[in-house]
Amino acid sequence: MRNIAVIGAGQMGTGIAQTVAGEGMHVMLADIDLAHAEAGKARIDAAVTKLVGRGKIEAATAKALLARITPVADYAPMESADLIIEAATEKEPIKQSIFENAGKVLGPDAVMASNTSSIPITRMANHSPDPSRFIGLHFFNPVPVMGLIEVIPGLATAQATTDRVTAFAEGLGKQVVLSQDEPGFVVNRILLPMINEAVFVLGQSTAGIEDIDKGCRLGLNHPMGPLQLADFVGLDTCLDIIKVLYKTTRDSKYRPAPLLVKYVEAGWLGRKTGRGFYDYSGDAPVPTR
Ligand code: 3HC
Repeated sequence: MRNIAVIGAGQMGTGIAQTVAGEGMHVMLADIDLAHAEAGKARIDAAVTKLVGRGKIEAATAKALLARITPVADYAPMESADLIIEAATEKEPIKQSIFENAGKVLGPDAVMASNTSSIPITRMANHSPDPSRFIGLHFFNPVPVMGLIEVIPGLATAQATTDRVTAFAEGLGKQVVLSQDEPGFVVNRILLPMINEAVFVLGQSTAGIEDIDKGCRLGLNHPMGPLQLADFVGLDTCLDIIKVLYKTTRDSKYRPAPLLVKYVEAGWLGRKTGRGFYDYSGDAPVPTR
């Protein structure tokens, strides 16, 4: 697989594009329009420029990486892609319409993958032209740094598709965990209940934000506490995932913490909006409770 298309130029899509281009492959990057795709490439430019400034990569390497990323206005050029990766927002109707529209140009041997965090692959595959060439490919944020990719075949996914996508993921220098198509797959099934529980702990005033995070950083050796991580992932994304777990399993252990719902209703979505459990307007994050 040499020609990769990424649909969605947000946090995950740009991280995927940067990583893929960093391994010498060509990337077409699309979003709702060309301006959004170009803005995504500009954020990748800023990220790699920072790496050059810190002496992590050569300026020439960064330039070549950026030259391999082409923002595109629509899906038509993706007819030449070996793999189309959808990394749009975690809303099923939006993803379905992407699979239907990009499916019109999917090449006869090409694979379509979704970076969904939790939506069933088998169900989404029905909106693609060929469910045997549809698969889940779940990256972790920040994509260039994190060493894992989950590969999730749906019921109809062909073994050849799983093998090709696994080889692609390993070619990015990542390790692969193969998961069955169950809600939340492996990692989010474990992570989201932890984040949700941390918000219950906060809501019940068992401890404040700083102490909850300190407890998990120092007591469990996690690089970030669960509330800081929730801000990093995005509180809306966290709520979307825990809702999928709750709806698909109907198990009350996944009911969203009321305080998480309130934060999302307030528009306090974490780092991306400048406020979540922490306030990011100053030099260092400040806990809000
Ligand atoms: N490209 C390449 N490298 C990058 C980068 C980028 N865009 N951003 C950061 N890096 C590199 C830095 O250069 C640095 O490299 P070095 O160790 O060689 O110096 C390294 O990453 C660490 O970066 P920083 O020094 O800036 O920051 P920290 O040491 O504070 O680490 C962190 C930041 C890696 C985010 C760390 O806090 C961490 O691992 N946090 C947990 C992240 C996590 O759990 N992610 C998973 C979320 S769940 C998910 O994504 C699933 C979804 O479905 C919800």
